[in-house]
Amino acid sequence: MPTQENKQDTKPAFFITTPIYYVNARPHLGHTYTTVAADTLARWKRMRGYDVRFLTGTDEHGQKIERSAAKTGKTPQEFAAGVSSEFRGLWDRMGLTYDDYIRTTEDRHKRGVRHLFTVLLESGFIYKGTYSGQYCVSDELYVDGPPGTICPDCGRVTETVSEENYFFKLSAFERKLLEYYEEHPDFIRPETRRNEVMAFVRGGLRDLSISRTSFNWGIPVPGDEKHVIYVWMDALANYITALGYGSGDPSLLEKYWPADVQLIGKEISRFHCVYWPAFLMAAGLPLPKSIVAHGWLLFEQSKMSKSRGNIVRAETVLDVLGADALRYFLLREIVFGQDGSFSFDALVQRYNSDLANGYGNLVSRTLTMIEKYFDGIVSFPGRSIHVSPVSGIENAASDCIGSFNKHFEDFQFSAALEAVWAFMKTIDAYLTAEAPWKLLAQSNDLPMQNRVKQILDSAVESIRIITALVYPVIPEAAAKVWKQLGLGDITKADLKDLQWGGLKPGTKLGELGPVFPRAEKEAIERMQDMEEKNQTPIEAESRRGDQVPAATVTEVEAPKPAAKERFPAHAQPAHPAAASVAPPAPEAPTRAATPVAGATPAPAATENAKIGIEDFAKVELRVAIIRVAERVPKADRLLRLEVDLGYEQRQIVAGIAEAYTPESLIGRKVVIVANLAPRKLRGLESNGMIVAASIGEKGTPVLAGFLEDVEIGARLK
Ligand code: ME8
Ligand code: MG
Repeated sequence: MPTQENKQDTKPAFFITTPIYYVNARPHLGHTYTTVAADTLARWKRMRGYDVRFLTGTDEHGQKIERSAAKTGKTPQEFAAGVSSEFRGLWDRMGLTYDDYIRTTEDRHKRGVRHLFTVLLESGFIYKGTYSGQYCVSDELYVDGPPGTICPDCGRVTETVSEENYFFKLSAFERKLLEYYEEHPDFIRPETRRNEVMAFVRGGLRDLSISRTSFNWGIPVPGDEKHVIYVWMDALANYITALGYGSGDPSLLEKYWPADVQLIGKEISRFHCVYWPAFLMAAGLPLPKSIVAHGWLLFEQSKMSKSRGNIVRAETVLDVLGADALRYFLLREIVFGQDGSFSFDALVQRYNSDLANGYGNLVSRTLTMIEKYFDGIVSFPGRSIHVSPVSGIENAASDCIGSFNKHFEDFQFSAALEAVWAFMKTIDAYLTAEAPWKLLAQSNDLPMQNRVKQILDSAVESIRIITALVYPVIPEAAAKVWKQLGLGDITKADLKDLQWGGLKPGTKLGELGPVFPRAEKEAIERMQDMEEKNQTPIEAESRRGDQVPAATVTEVEAPKPAAKERFPAHAQPAHPAAASVAPPAPEAPTRAATPVAGATPAPAATENAKIGIEDFAKVELRVAIIRVAERVPKADRLLRLEVDLGYEQRQIVAGIAEAYTPESLIGRKVVIVANLAPRKLRGLESNGMIVAASIGEKGTPVLAGFLEDVEIGARLK
């Protein structure tokens, strides 16, 4: 017979990771989503007797961070430390149960990465060569194609780099990877991502440049310090450096590697499902059991992202509704693996219907009756007395447990929660049908008392089971209810074999109190206001610094708000020579608003309305220089422009081809609206608009310019 200690030792290990987040801007709900999902799985596994290790952290090196830091006037080290501690502070505030938090600027990590590089170099998988080609700084991604090529992931113009680099022999792993995917159908989940990755690898793998010399913010290549290691190699290695890879102490690696679940957002599948396993194969290490990619959290119809500027911060929801409300919403509302929308309305609605009126109400009505009628004593043993209809409830409870666990195994959190809430409905209906509060008024004799006890006992036992199941998702509330049930600390409870009948007769309820007070309607407005006030310089900076990562275009409706919503109607021309914004497309709203003979005039109210300075301040006008201009095939009025803002290059598609030849525009300084939501025109991403006067009946554009020489990037205000 194993001793207690041996038992402890044989707990199965479970290692779960999140991506390490870039520190170029502070956390938002997208990051919270992944980290909450990981925390939920970690809690669920712990509750089921696993020795869990949950790792998260921050990704702090690379050109993107170096540039973000420069914009704030801080050193990269200072800048990264500040943002990293914001991430960690948020996770702590939310009570997330990570076991380790790795920062890529830590010595333990740097040592591990250098070790990995050395191992790959010595085993012949790294060689020196010259890379000349395109690089997307925002995605830290090498892109094939000529200068001016657009990054396939984010739609930004790539930068040309020509450097002597170290290369990783990725091409040598094409076959091995494909074989591995074939043999391990659960390695990449869900299926759609697996298919995508396999198609990508089948398309052929080229060797990967894994060092850079044009900047310093990174881990130097051992023995050739003018090179820094490619930030993705650096970042991916965190999953093993956090377990002591390269430290000489293999104990954690032996215990926890390979990882059981590596959670990621779908946009970083290629890095995790192609590069990462290839690095591991080259280093002779086993591959993770499963890379699980979830979909995107959308806000206002597009991917929530710092660069797009459509973010919501977790703090706002925490202040108003608390962490459990947010966790529940994220896991219940979004089908894991697919994209899903966040809105304050939907959040408050879910909160009220499922948490306040659903779970909270069931708990409070049941426990209050036990308190009132039986002095808070749960009197009946769970199992012995059960006859129909109670046995129906018992069956429903065990079905619920089975279905919940099965869905959790498959990462289907929303389906798991649906099963629990359906079970809650059964209990609610049972209570309503039996109406125990009426029965005691009818008669207070012993048989009647026993009948009421039996009803309430079934309800309270159901609540115990429900509470144990929802604990990983809404831990704070579940812990409260557990105490109210008289069961003490839920984190110490053994919930491994959850089944009907666990509540002991004679259990005395704890002190009762509200679990989820109803949210008022004004909660929505409060949160919206808080978000508006929360715009901070860091975010403003990064919003300018990089625009939309738009692998979105295939999956998400292209963002709609073009000129119309971003520009108050009154900013549009009131008469033919008014200043306007050269429309990016012939059908742009500014053009339509130019009055033509016989057209209905715009309503007076909008024409004369005044805006406050704060509305104007929302429009970010900046000076840019046109570097590249060319016609867009089959579009008479469109030009594709590449403009330089000093701190970044971007592509704008403008409807000015009838007024300007491409050659006449090269080197010209123009004014652009820099913070306009990007849109696609003729398949080309347009990031911003060029400002122009609109002249005559045809609205011929005349570009705005300056008499003095102005620096590019300067803001107009
Ligand atoms: O990519 N919806 O960091 P990152 C869902 N440092 N999840 C989202 C999201 C959204 N709108 N926005 C962000 C990096 N996420 C690299 C990773 S790992 C070795 C290096 C989550 O700051 C999601 O998990 O851009 C996504 O993959 C991750 O944050 C990207 O964070
Ligand atoms: Mg990203």
